[in-house]
Amino acid sequence: MAGLTEQYDFLSRRCVWVNGPIIVGAGPSGLAVAACLREKDVPFVILERADCIASLWQKRTYDRLKLHLPKQFCQLPMLPFPEDYPEYPSRKQFIDYLESYAKHFKLSPRFNQSVQSAKYDETSELWRVRAAGACAEPGNVSADVEYIGRWLVVATGENAEEVVPELEGLEEFGGDVKHVCDYKSGEAYRGKRVLVVGCGNSGMEVSLDLCDHDASPSMVIRDSVHVLPREVLGKSTFELAILLMKWLPLWLADKILLVLAWLVLGNVERFGLRRPSAGPLELKNTQGKTPVLDIGALGKIRSGDINVVPGIKRLSPGKVELVDGRLLDVDSIILATGYRSNVPQWLQGCDFFSKDGVPKSPFPNGWKGKSGLYAVGFTRRGLSGASSDAVRTAMDIGRLWGEETNVAKRIFACHRR
Ligand SMILES: Cc1cc2nc3c(=O)[nH]c(=O)nc-3n(C[C@H](O)[C@H](O)[C@H](O)COP(=O)(O)OP(=O)(O)OC[C@H]3O[C@@H](n4cnc5c(N)ncnc54)[C@H](O)[C@@H]3O)c2cc1C
Ligand SMILES: NC(=O)c1ccc[n+]([C@@H]2O[C@H](COP(=O)([O-])OP(=O)(O)OC[C@H]3O[C@@H](n4cnc5c(N)ncnc54)[C@H](OP(=O)(O)O)[C@@H]3O)[C@@H](O)[C@H]2O)c1
Repeated sequence: MAGLTEQYDFLSRRCVWVNGPIIVGAGPSGLAVAACLREKDVPFVILERADCIASLWQKRTYDRLKLHLPKQFCQLPMLPFPEDYPEYPSRKQFIDYLESYAKHFKLSPRFNQSVQSAKYDETSELWRVRAAGACAEPGNVSADVEYIGRWLVVATGENAEEVVPELEGLEEFGGDVKHVCDYKSGEAYRGKRVLVVGCGNSGMEVSLDLCDHDASPSMVIRDSVHVLPREVLGKSTFELAILLMKWLPLWLADKILLVLAWLVLGNVERFGLRRPSAGPLELKNTQGKTPVLDIGALGKIRSGDINVVPGIKRLSPGKVELVDGRLLDVDSIILATGYRSNVPQWLQGCDFFSKDGVPKSPFPNGWKGKSGLYAVGFTRRGLSGASSDAVRTAMDIGRLWGEETNVAKRIFACHRR
């Protein structure tokens, strides 16, 4: 592979010298930055813990998923979606697009390479990145590989690990319990009473899917939530929000969005969906909390097909006790309780990321750290944020790469003379 030199150290751990950046993660962010680097002729290696690209989309999302934002906000740099794609591409179409993106830019990640640690070595001024392989290769004492290079690009995503809350009595519950990342469709739940914990975009859409498969979902809303229509007068709410934020202060943009939401959806508080005191854009900016873009769940809440319930007090065999004292009979539980970054688990000795695993500096300043460290895809702005990070990162590394290779060429030319 271009730009790599392999050696064995005395512990039989393979050491790989990477002549360019080490990119961790082959999701949309990792692919986007790699494509931009390819365009600049900068060699790189992509390390991916799964056995495929975009593993979140391929392995950990449900069948009916579509992009919630119009396609122009979800395409990666330098290759638009095919023209015949609909406004909101399906999960399958998005995966096909990513596969053709990887093929187009000749991106071949090293799969089954789960990064366990990454540390900057001050003495050598190099990053040492240790990855564990899924299985030991024949003839190798250890499947661990240490990648060594000048630059580290963190592209492991904001949704790397599922959040599983501690619920009292969960072990005694006895029914099927799974996180939404393992949910595929409501087919397996036909006729069942299902408790969906969480009311983000996942909780809402899974509750809707359960209704469509003749299951009876109860959705836990423990606090407040902003639900917005996906479109207002045929225009995407997201696009409208961007436009409003360009010209108006945030509080005014929020007010307008909420009035529009009220005109389209009516008063959602009547159905148990209390709105937070902060507006949807303010909440997204300050806490990274994504508003729900309604694609039909609200209608099912209105009709009573989705039963909205408050927080959980405890679970017991086949039952859930709610904080208001009600007792529900439940067959299965789906935890739509969100995701988190895993960066703090493996990136060592670096204060660029917060304890939650996102850069401390907010967008647009969270893409570059010290000593050749970059972060792509941690903007809380989905795929469009990832693309903008990728372009900036590749431009910066490309410039440094150009400077270093020019110096090397000059030294080489002097030696020849
Ligand atoms: C259900 C769902 C729907 C979404 N829909 C949209 C949408 O419509 N529009 C939008 O803009 N955003 C959406 N998002 C947000 C989503 O996170 C981004 O779209 C996109 O996947 C982010 O890309 P990424 O590459 O940063 O992260 P990911 O897609 O999560 O990719 C990160 C990759 O890094 C790998 N990895 C993680 N840790 C390690 C490690 N230690 N070593 C090696 N590899 C590792 C993972 O296996 C993964 O392949 C959605 C998220 C979810 C969960
Ligand atoms: N089609 C799409 O585009 C699509 C579909 C699905 C998801 N997504 C995206 O994927 C990302 C993750 O979404 P998500 O919905 O999976 O997660 P999320 O937005 O983080 O929502 C998690 C939900 O779980 C609740 N929760 C957490 N712990 C709880 C507990 N112990 N008891 C009760 N409720 C609890 C949270 O409530 P609190 O608010 O009270 O903490 C919140 O409602 C988001 O960016 C989202 O937009 C996109």
